[in-house]
Amino acid sequence: MNATLRRAIRPLADALISQIAAGEVVERPASVVKELLENSLDAGATQIDIKLEAGGIKRIVVSDNGAGIPRDELPLALTRHTTSKIASLEELEGVESLGFRGEALASIASVADVSITSRVTGSDSAFCVRGGSDEIEPAAGSIGTRIEVADLFHKTPARRKFLRSEATELAHCLTQVERAAAAHSSVAFTVTHQGRTMLALPAQPPRERALRLMPEEFAVARREVQQSAAGTSVHGWAGAPTASRARADAQYFFVNGRYVRDKVLTHAVRAAYADVLHGASQPMYCLYLTIDPKRVDVNVHPTKIEVRFRDSSSVHQFVMHAVQAALAQSVRPLQPSTINPQAADTGYRLTPTHQTSFGVAQTVANYLALLAERPAPIANGASDEAPDLPLGF
Ligand SMILES: Nc1ncnc2c1ncn2[C@@H]1O[C@H](COP(=O)(O)OP(=O)(O)O)[C@@H](O)[C@H]1O
Ligand SMILES: [Mg+2]
Repeated sequence: MNATLRRAIRPLADALISQIAAGEVVERPASVVKELLENSLDAGATQIDIKLEAGGIKRIVVSDNGAGIPRDELPLALTRHTTSKIASLEELEGVESLGFRGEALASIASVADVSITSRVTGSDSAFCVRGGSDEIEPAAGSIGTRIEVADLFHKTPARRKFLRSEATELAHCLTQVERAAAAHSSVAFTVTHQGRTMLALPAQPPRERALRLMPEEFAVARREVQQSAAGTSVHGWAGAPTASRARADAQYFFVNGRYVRDKVLTHAVRAAYADVLHGASQPMYCLYLTIDPKRVDVNVHPTKIEVRFRDSSSVHQFVMHAVQAALAQSVRPLQPSTINPQAADTGYRLTPTHQTSFGVAQTVANYLALLAERPAPIANGASDEAPDLPLGF
């Protein structure tokens, strides 16, 4: 650049900083839905209602019955880098909440009109605050929080151009709700679009919730996955090889209640199917990994969809063997309780046609023994690095 054209270094305006941050976190209405849902879940809500207009582009309203935000903290909720979730590096490294960056609401407010109405236990009324205003007004509302986001990207028209049709944006919003719902089955969710009910999920047991959200054929062709060792557990369901699909569209992995897309986990599951699923066939699965938060870093990307395990090879082995063991269940002799239709819904159904031999039981036993003996691995060692696993498995 010509030296005479150079401008002096200056701090960016606050609003612009938030708009830059919004570029990472708020890609489309579904990103807003995700952030608002995470906040409601972090607030301990048991009922979350989502109202959308025009695929969420015109309006997104998320109401919950969570703990609420006290009147005096309302403006802070919209301020950048303010959070009630962590206060130290130590807390960051063991974070258990879905949020912690303290920037979602500020980012959203920098690209849309936001209002928050909230009421906490013990308060006579709810209070409302709007983005761009310091005024706090009393409002009607029961205990919990209602966040309304209107006219997404009207402040940043260039970004608005990247939005797709309302139907596509709506589909992305629903995907986000389904992911949150699959990980939090004790929470009831409703979604309406233009006043029409799109989804209504009561609080239900994890298995019922997963079956409600997974493709129908999954219900009759799945194996229960259940392994734990050394404080780490994986549970859920893996589809029988006979129920594979052409597309990888029924693959859900959750780590500590968070939907993630992680190549180590994806590869581990795929490896478990290596002998029974060939070519481009994609297995169906819905799996939940519970691991000490200190052993997984969720602060990898602002959207937190990626994670980094401290000891990714252990996690890879653990998940692979757990899924292999589940798939191998079909070689066990049928137990009377499994055959008895009254005792159905033990989590998986065995049919002779699905029986194949994997011979992994011994490996699993060995592996679990190993995990139980071994203390938590030390982080940062080069040997702890995951092998560079190919994507697209
Ligand atoms: N639905 C909600 N219920 C209760 N508190 C909320 C809700 N949404 C936001 N908050 C409060 O606002 C703060 C800022 O939210 P956010 O910008 O999403 O950052 P983060 O979730 O990373 O803390 C949260 O830390 C929380 O205290
Ligand atoms: Mg948040």
